[in-house]
Amino acid sequence: MRIFSGIQPTGRKHLGNYIGAIVQYVEGQQRAADAGDVAIYCVVDLHAMTVPWNPVEMRERVYDTAAILLAAGLDPEKCVFIRQSDVPEHTELAWHLGAVTAHGDLNRMHQFKEKSARQRDLVSADLFTYPVLMAADVLAYRANEVPVGDDQRQHVELMRDVAQRFNERFGDVLVVPELKIPSVGARIMDLQNPTSKMSTSSDSPEGTVYVLDDAKATEKKFKRAVTDSDDPPQIVAGDKAKPGVSNLVDILAATRGCTPAEAIASLADARGYGDLKVATANAVNELLEPVRARYAELRPDEAKLEAIFAEGAQKAREITVPVLQDVRRAIGVGPKPR
Ligand code: TYM
Repeated sequence: MRIFSGIQPTGRKHLGNYIGAIVQYVEGQQRAADAGDVAIYCVVDLHAMTVPWNPVEMRERVYDTAAILLAAGLDPEKCVFIRQSDVPEHTELAWHLGAVTAHGDLNRMHQFKEKSARQRDLVSADLFTYPVLMAADVLAYRANEVPVGDDQRQHVELMRDVAQRFNERFGDVLVVPELKIPSVGARIMDLQNPTSKMSTSSDSPEGTVYVLDDAKATEKKFKRAVTDSDDPPQIVAGDKAKPGVSNLVDILAATRGCTPAEAIASLADARGYGDLKVATANAVNELLEPVRARYAELRPDEAKLEAIFAEGAQKAREITVPVLQDVRRAIGVGPKPR
């Protein structure tokens, strides 16, 4: 059982990334190791080039993201931790997979529609083929499982189709991976605008809780979270008519590692939404304060971060080089196999 997932080094990582993805990464590295296999986690710097970027900032954000993941509990001794651009097989495989990816399928991707609508100057070809590189990330490792938040569902479905189409045409070369979405917290919503997902690109800094916000700022954002005017207050989960309250309950449950029903039961004596907000802020701070402290220790040592990436790339290529050899052989590219 092999796991692969990726995270962009753009912007600052938020609670949605943490609950939807990073918590699953940490759990997955142990599960994969226990099964005698490995989990590969990747900071996807090449994907960050699909919208305008600043080259100097890019390096800083890669280090920021790496330090957050390590602070959260990724252990380079247990998993393979890489920077995408260090493993050239990702981009080579993306080209080969492009040959079996339908232009029409890429055109249907929600993320492409949203992000292309936001570009003022240039909608790049890389933004359009983003999901092909994402497919290559996973398929280059023959990974079985892809832990992501709900917003990446369509991309993972596309990569499954691409792997199937490749295998139908060229033989059983690639593994068709499974999507893995957390049961609670797959879609954390913006605290100010709870019908939109929490996101780095939203214009709602007050509604986005960053992993590196301090405890006070976190508490303030939760205290100001939008709920509703039900009187008496109704603390419930999964109610589309009550998106703000449902989101807080989901966050509380995901951060405590319990079910939404258990989170609601723990608030049986709550006098109002204020108690729900404070309980959630406290649970989030309890989860993130140690991560923030470890981040502050890890982030300054860029040489160490580079050394971790170098070792990761070496381990990664032990997997990807043979896979690419099989792919080239199957598609008739490169020297005749002996
Ligand atoms: P990215 O960097 O946008 O997000 C990283 C992870 O965080 C999850 N996520 C959320 N989960 C719950 N609630 C939210 N509001 C929320 N916002 C983000 C995302 O689903 C993701 O799992 N395309 C990917 C990166 C990628 C990748 C891959 C992932 C590149 N190659 C291969 C898996 C496999 C992305 O942009 O994630």
